[in-house]
Amino acid sequence: MTGALRRGLLAQAGACAELGSPMYAELLARAADDPGTAVADVLGDRTGPGFVLGMLGAVHRLVLEGRAPGLAAHYPTAGGAKDPLAAWPAFRDALVEHAPEVRAGLADPPQTNEVGRAAPLIGGLLAVAAATGLPVRLLELGASAGLNLRADHFRILHEGGAYGPEAGVVLEDAWRGLPRVDARLVIVERRGCDLNPLDPASPEARRRLLSYVWPDQAARVARLRAAFAVAERVPATVVRAGAAEFLDGVAPREGVATVVWHSTMQAYLSPDESARVLARLEQAGAAATADAPFAHLSFEGPDASRLDAAHVLTLRLWPDGGPAILAEGPSHGLPTTWR
Ligand SMILES: C[S@@+](CC[C@H](N)C(=O)[O-])C[C@H]1O[C@@H](n2cnc3c(N)ncnc32)[C@H](O)[C@@H]1O
Repeated sequence: MTGALRRGLLAQAGACAELGSPMYAELLARAADDPGTAVADVLGDRTGPGFVLGMLGAVHRLVLEGRAPGLAAHYPTAGGAKDPLAAWPAFRDALVEHAPEVRAGLADPPQTNEVGRAAPLIGGLLAVAAATGLPVRLLELGASAGLNLRADHFRILHEGGAYGPEAGVVLEDAWRGLPRVDARLVIVERRGCDLNPLDPASPEARRRLLSYVWPDQAARVARLRAAFAVAERVPATVVRAGAAEFLDGVAPREGVATVVWHSTMQAYLSPDESARVLARLEQAGAAATADAPFAHLSFEGPDASRLDAAHVLTLRLWPDGGPAILAEGPSHGLPTTWR
C-alpha cells in the first residue's frame, strides 16, 4: 500500500470516529495497517474521501443485497448481531471476492440524502415564514431523493420540547436554542432538482441511499427508513437537472415566499455553475417585493473533503437581501445550534 493510500484511509478513519461511526473508524484503521493488498487492489491511487466512502458504500450495498452473508453478520443494518468492531476479516474477504464490482462502483460518486439536515433547514424556513407571513414555495438544489422537501412532516426534539407532527421521522437532540417556532409554516409547493434524482419508492434507490449511511449509526438509518415512508404519502417532485439550469426562469411569485434551499451540495458545483447559480439567485432576488419575497437558504460546509467541519445555515431574504447567519451544526445537521 502506498503512503498516500494509508494516509487517506487513516484520515477518513479519523473523520468517521469524529462523526460517530466506531465501526468504520476501526475498519479503516485495520485496512490502513493490512499487510495484504485487498484495499489497494480496489482503490489503487484513488485515495480521496469520496473513493474511500465509495468503497465502504459499495461493500455495504453487497451486504444489503444479501450477497456477503459472512460480513452481514456484523452489520446492524442487515440485522447482524456480531460485534461490528470485529468486521475487518469478513470485510476483507468480501472485498477480495467482489473486487471488480466494487472497483467499478467507484465510478459513481457516493450519494446521500441526510434527513438530519432537515433540522437546520426547517428552522431557516420558519425564519422566512415569520418574516413574510406567507405560505412557502420550496425549491431545492441537489435534492437527491427529495426527502428533505418533506421536512415539515418530521418531528424535531429539542431541549425545550418538540416541534412538528407526532408520527414518522424523529430527529433527536436536534436544536440547541430555538428558531421561530411561533411562525405558521405552510408549504404549498415542493420541487427540487438533482443531476441524479433518486425515486424514494424504488427498492434499488433506497438501498443506494442506505449503503452510504454508516451501518452502526442506528438513528441515521432509522430516520432514513422513516423518511422513505413519509415520502410515500407526501408528494414532491425532483427533476433531473443541474442547479443552474433548474434556476433558469425561477422568479418570485405574488402571494408566496419562494425559497431556494440546498444542503451539502455547493462543493459539487464547478466554479462556472456556482457563479451561474449565484447570478440567478441575485436576479430573482432583485425582482422580489414584499408581496412576492424570495429567499436563499443554505446549509453548507467549507468543502466536500471536510465532512467533519461545521456547516453554517445562512439566509438571504429579499426584497432587502441582507445576508444573515442563523445557525451552525455538524455536517449531518444534528444538533443545530441557533444564534
Ligand atoms: C451530498 S449529496 C446531498 C443531498 C442532499 N442535499 C442532502 O443534504 O441530503 C449532494 C447531491 O448533490 C447532487 N449534485 C451534485 N452536483 C450537482 C449539480 N451540479 N446540480 C444539481 N445537483 C447536483 C448529487 O447528485 C447529490 O444528490
